[in-house]
Amino acid sequence: MDANAYRINKILGLVLGSALFLQAVHIIDGNFSSAKVAKRGSEVAVKEEQPHAGAAAGVPIDTLLASASAERGAEVAKQCQACHNFEEGQGPKIGPDLYGVVGRKIASAPGFNYSSALKSKNGNWDFNALNAWLIKPTAYAPGTAMTFAGLSNDKQRADVIAYLDTLSKNPVPLPKAQ
Ligand code: HEC
Repeated sequence: MDANAYRINKILGLVLGSALFLQAVHIIDGNFSSAKVAKRGSEVAVKEEQPHAGAAAGVPIDTLLASASAERGAEVAKQCQACHNFEEGQGPKIGPDLYGVVGRKIASAPGFNYSSALKSKNGNWDFNALNAWLIKPTAYAPGTAMTFAGLSNDKQRADVIAYLDTLSKNPVPLPKAQ
């Protein structure tokens, strides 16, 4: 190899090398910026979902109950009757009898075989627990046997809870409007 050919080789090598280097930088940079865009995208998506989730979880049930109507709730609750009885002593259907459910210990109606998902929940069905449950049963107790999508509408949910509260000899007083 003469000196000239060697120099040309060297130059070509340098050019190729830096082209590769630039290409690599470009790829890496591209990855970073598309990752950034994707991240920004998901942040936007989360932000957009928030008002909805916030409306469901954020408006306190006490506020919703203060303007709830048990009469309207009785209408909404007709869809529960496919699976639930509402009167005392009627016993379970596909789901347990809901007479007296407000304030009752979770998963405690006699003679009903609850899922372990619901049995593993502690506490009583107070307004908060019922609210969380009825927004989306499968989210509140993953694995629950209640195949009901839930009541995402705040007003309807509060109305149903107000109605459930009437299914008792001693209804729990509903919160008053502030
Ligand atoms: C498709 C049938 C079905 C429908 C419709 C349904 N449920 Fe249920 N529900 C069940 C079953 C089954 C269970 C028991 C869940 C378990 O063991 O995981 C249950 C459990 C419950 C419980 C817990 C009771 C306890 O003793 O711990 C409440 C409260 C409840 N349902 C309210 C409602 C309300 C209110 C509606 C209507 C808005 C409704 N359900 C609609 C099937 C249904």
